[in-house]
Amino acid sequence: MAHIQICSENNGFTIQDITMTLADLNQRFGINNNLIFSEIAGGLIAAQINNAHASASIALQGAHLMTYQPNDEEPVIWLSKYAKFAAGKSIRGGVPICWPWFGAHATDSKLPGHGYARTVMWEVLESKALPDGATFISLGLIETDATRAQWPHPCTAKVEITVGKNLRVELVTQNTGKEAFTLGEALHTYFHISDVAQMTIRGLEGCDYLDKVGEPARRTQKDGIVIESEVDRIYVDTTADCVIEDRGLKRAIRIAKQGSRSTVVWNPWTEKADKMGDFGQDGHRGMVCVESANAAHNVVSVAPGETHRLAVVYSVEALK
Ligand code: BG6
Repeated sequence: MAHIQICSENNGFTIQDITMTLADLNQRFGINNNLIFSEIAGGLIAAQINNAHASASIALQGAHLMTYQPNDEEPVIWLSKYAKFAAGKSIRGGVPICWPWFGAHATDSKLPGHGYARTVMWEVLESKALPDGATFISLGLIETDATRAQWPHPCTAKVEITVGKNLRVELVTQNTGKEAFTLGEALHTYFHISDVAQMTIRGLEGCDYLDKVGEPARRTQKDGIVIESEVDRIYVDTTADCVIEDRGLKRAIRIAKQGSRSTVVWNPWTEKADKMGDFGQDGHRGMVCVESANAAHNVVSVAPGETHRLAVVYSVEALK
């Protein structure tokens, strides 16, 4: 019987056993014909969802949605064929949760990039079948001494995922302490596309962005985004929907967000992808990250008692 462990040895965390077995998980939160928990590679535990609209899988480590595919549709979310599954390691693809900071930590370069939420264990808080046939699951980040050492601000983090005709992901942060804190975050979503040469991202025309490739620079986006080399940009002060037009798959993916003022667009291109070791040859051609974020000067101040929500709906549309 698999026991669910809440921390990783790799990060120097103490392994604790939350004494919940797979059987317990399935008994408490499984849903007949819709939601089952199983052990996947690397000893990770994942919720496998199948319903009248779509299928999806979510690792409890990181509350990391790994796959989402509406029925009769190509996958919407990209998961690398070479993704590594291991305790304490982030999975390449899906929707990594960057929290409670985005990118490098503001003052301590030894702390992990994009925060720790994506590599620690989360617990299932609730699951339910919704009247329209969608499936809902909510997960809460498990705090440990190791997480408190990196982020000394009393708060809770919750991820609520609805798998239906569309995919909805909401990241909820509550300040349970007595002082305000500054939060950086992103739903670092990897999208499955036919080929990067067949794709244009719309919605950021006229926005300013911080270009992280080469010498850091601030620029303005003129037209739709076409990717022909490494792209790593934080578009700031934007609440706009983005649409990924995919001429190869003859579809568009709409990203409609709330509670987010930055959008990050990333494709590592050949050399960086090779160095990362979990893209495979040409893996970068079949993906693009469009991340709904609060980053750079758009980080959020969360007052004591306040709840901050970042919510995104991902849907497929016909290509106009
Ligand atoms: C993007 C950053 O959000 O994530 C990039 O803008 C970074 O700079 C990329 O390379 C991937 O990060 P990681 O830590 O998942 O390899």
